Amino acid sequence: MAEQTWVRLVTAQTPTNIAVIKYWGKRDETLILPVNDSISVTLDPEHLCTTTTVAVSPSFDQDRMWLNGKEISLSGGRYQNCLREIRARACDVEDEEKGIKIARKDWEKLHIHIASYNNFPTAAGLASSAAGFACLVFALAKLMNAKEENSQLSAIARQGSGSACRSLFGGFVKWIMGKTEDGSDSLAVQLVDEKHWDDLVIIIAVVSSRQKETSSTTGMRDTVETSLLLQHRAQEIVPKRIVEMEEAIKSRDFASFAQLTCADSNQFHAVCLDTRPPIFYMNDTSHRIISCVEKWNRSEGTPQVAYTFDAGPNAVLIARDRKAATQLLQKLLFYFPPQPDTDLNSYVIGDKSILKDAG
Ligand code: ADP
Ligand code: DP6
Ligand code: CO
Repeated sequence: MAEQTWVRLVTAQTPTNIAVIKYWGKRDETLILPVNDSISVTLDPEHLCTTTTVAVSPSFDQDRMWLNGKEISLSGGRYQNCLREIRARACDVEDEEKGIKIARKDWEKLHIHIASYNNFPTAAGLASSAAGFACLVFALAKLMNAKEENSQLSAIARQGSGSACRSLFGGFVKWIMGKTEDGSDSLAVQLVDEKHWDDLVIIIAVVSSRQKETSSTTGMRDTVETSLLLQHRAQEIVPKRIVEMEEAIKSRDFASFAQLTCADSNQFHAVCLDTRPPIFYMNDTSHRIISCVEKWNRSEGTPQVAYTFDAGPNAVLIARDRKAATQLLQKLLFYFPPQPDTDLNSYVIGDKSILKDAG
């Protein structure tokens, strides 16, 4: 490669995903192998997504990364694992237009700069690590012309953050926990694409955009070490739920879907409470939203809305159709008006933006 200055850039955009059957607990911390399968829905990229630009140039003398405009350290094992795995799969690159030629072996010496932005709160329980690492791995693979399929990339993104493996596909996605020691079969598969169940409308109530006190990684480590309930959940409950959830999704059975989604969210938070010291991701506003939805679903006789909360207080509400979504939004605005002096400060809807931050 001749000494010259050039920069090759690739930008990718990846949506976040929210689990309806939760991943919580690792059997291998380094490879990020989970204790159970999980299922998620990938959100509309317009509202909650990561945009990542990766650049390579012979003038870069080290790998560097900026997250939301601030430089962060790449020394953590997770970033290094993703970089190493993609570098190992890099191929020749030839960009005739720009006169750039990179041979496969050059990737070992070349350094990468990464700039990533989340258009939603980072580390607040809206799965920024999922969109973030999926986007990073996808962008690096494009930059280095790695020819892996998305499911293969998902096994690499998994090593950045477990939930990230599910963001490489749209629609409903299953992360198969896998059996092998090296984790090669712990990857994501698409169950159905985004068109399969397009009646559903997702509304996110941003109860707090503050960074959570206990990261998902630390929280689930404590749970694995101290909760007896987790074993029961992972071995007895989730395997059955996964089968039922797949069935509900394939047949678009909203009543079963809602029942399973809400039950799994509640059990995940029960497991957090069963951790020593107990972890409280939800707050009073989250609890009030649950009560409001439960009451409404009961009064209708059949579920209109499913709720699920990740490792944070923010509610992800899945309405069965647009009519239910409109009614839900009316109820939310009545009972939880976005005001600076309340916790709840904005709503985001599945396919159209709604209310801006009032706080
Ligand atoms: P969340 O609920 O938002 O996923 P986590 O505690 O799981 O919170 O993960 C937050 C961490 O994920 C951040 O501290 C950062 O290390 C990483 N992360 C978030 N966004 C990105 C991104 N765009 N690119 C790379 N890493 C990211
Ligand atoms: C509650 O994937 O963020 O959102 O693998 O340690 O990075 P690490 O954790 P992360 O955990 C996500 C937990 C969850 C449930 C889920 O997304 O399945
Ligand atoms: Co996360």
